[in-house]
Amino acid sequence: MCKILIAAGRVFEDGVSILLLIGGSASDVLALKVAREMGISISKLQIKKFPDGEKYVRILDDVKGNDIVVIQSMYRLPDEHLFEYFLLVKALKDLGAKRVIGVIPYFAYARQDKRFNPGEAISFQTVNRLIENVGTDELFTVDTHLHRVDDISKVFRIPAHNLSVVPSLTQYVKQNYTLNRPLVIAPDEEAEQWAKISSEILNSEYDVLEKIRLGPDKVEIKTRLLSVRDRDVIVVDDIISTGGTMVETVKILRHYGANKVIVMCAHPLLIGDSYARILDAGAEAIIGSDTVPSPVSFVSAAPVIAEALKKAL
Ligand code: R5P
Repeated sequence: MCKILIAAGRVFEDGVSILLLIGGSASDVLALKVAREMGISISKLQIKKFPDGEKYVRILDDVKGNDIVVIQSMYRLPDEHLFEYFLLVKALKDLGAKRVIGVIPYFAYARQDKRFNPGEAISFQTVNRLIENVGTDELFTVDTHLHRVDDISKVFRIPAHNLSVVPSLTQYVKQNYTLNRPLVIAPDEEAEQWAKISSEILNSEYDVLEKIRLGPDKVEIKTRLLSVRDRDVIVVDDIISTGGTMVETVKILRHYGANKVIVMCAHPLLIGDSYARILDAGAEAIIGSDTVPSPVSFVSAAPVIAEALKKAL
């Protein structure tokens, strides 16, 4: 069946269906960039808060019979932005949208995917069920850190895809820095997947460090195999949150004689003074994507998202 990718500017080809793109308040700029990549306009919304804190959402375009993409990261206020996503998707379905595709570039709650201590909520599972039940037909995330499964489609009952900006981050570093005997480092075993991808692009070796988490903002990092002396090192991880992982990683790499240390991450949450602490530890630069807006969001996730949406439609 033919899908026509034209929105508010409205070019109907054979009248089958149009695609509208909606950016929630956490991802309005990223949604605009995706719309530009796809050559479509963005749909108009009204979002406000009542004096008591309740959220109000109104969709100002006619969505009946159309495919709609809702882009909304779960940051900086994960609960609030998630709830706004629910209101948007349910309203779109009530208004007769044919298909609602959710794009959640930064997906919070993925780390609480099991009961680590008695009585804990398994938040990831609950959030996933709510995303499905509210009416999402298909879902895209970006570099969501999966801990106990290898594929996001295994934790959703709707088609779900985990895209990656790591190749784009790596290309950015390759184009903007002169690297001498580069080596890619993963701060822990779970980041090995990204280190492998980056090292292939840079045509370099990679190594994995050992991370022991001592608390929410405290980690211990141990070295493993390769020598880093006089080499330029690129560290790659999915998230920089409190910065604890990166601070300790950069410190140990510098301690063992690494030359330039460039830090890359998909989601630069950069809580508190983590940006300054990572630079102070000896990093030359932090390169992040715009799945969450930040001062280091030099690389846009928009081309990767746009490409995936074009294929899905
Ligand atoms: C953990 O599994 C993630 O891959 C990151 O390493 C972690 O979220 C980073 O957190 P922080 O910046 O607080 O050390």
